[in-house]
Amino acid sequence: MSDDRHHVYDDIVEHDNKLPLWWQITLYGAILFGLVYWFGRRMEAIQSPAQAYSAEVAAQRAADAERARARGTIDDAMLATLSKDPALVARGKETFVTTCAPCHRPDGGGNIGPNLTDAYWLHGAKPTDLYRDVSEGIVAKGMPTWGPMLGDVKVQEVVAYVMVIENTNVAGGKAPQGELAVK
Ligand code: HEC
Repeated sequence: MSDDRHHVYDDIVEHDNKLPLWWQITLYGAILFGLVYWFGRRMEAIQSPAQAYSAEVAAQRAADAERARARGTIDDAMLATLSKDPALVARGKETFVTTCAPCHRPDGGGNIGPNLTDAYWLHGAKPTDLYRDVSEGIVAKGMPTWGPMLGDVKVQEVVAYVMVIENTNVAGGKAPQGELAVK
């Protein structure tokens, strides 16, 4: 089992024991796992714990949004739930950049239309106020009626996006108009 290596120091005899198989399997297994994991991460085939976590959160938020929509009532809570779904908000941003940007600037800072990134609102700050503004428009003031043009799903998505950019105060935005929203 053990070889005496004829090396004694302070009465301590050095042996050359063969390492048990389970120990070697653990060691080489850990090295192999490390290599595979490292390579997998490099090739982006394996998610980092942070990536896996945010993917799970995003999936949960999407499921919540789906359920809120399925209830069929558009209220503040429903729109707030939609605004927490990153994929839905990203679709809203696409609509915003293509449809709303000419008047509100691509970043929402305002142009002909008001700055949507401050905390001030002309027509109310509640999610349902934004939904009404976008869906029905404020025609007399030059804000078109988007409901029939975009369809309800896109209107909900773009409102969710506006809820996310509210209060981000982008640089060079238009001066505040309307009333400070107390939330
Ligand atoms: C043709 C120009 C134009 C386009 C395009 C446009 N808007 Fe507007 N929007 C306006 C104007 C002008 C107002 C301000 C109306 C007022 O003064 O009462 C406004 C107001 C708003 C408000 C209310 C702001 C407040 O202070 O209460 C929201 C929300 C809004 N727009 C969202 C959108 C979204 C979302 C889109 C894209 C789907 C969009 N707008 C596209 C011109 C536009």
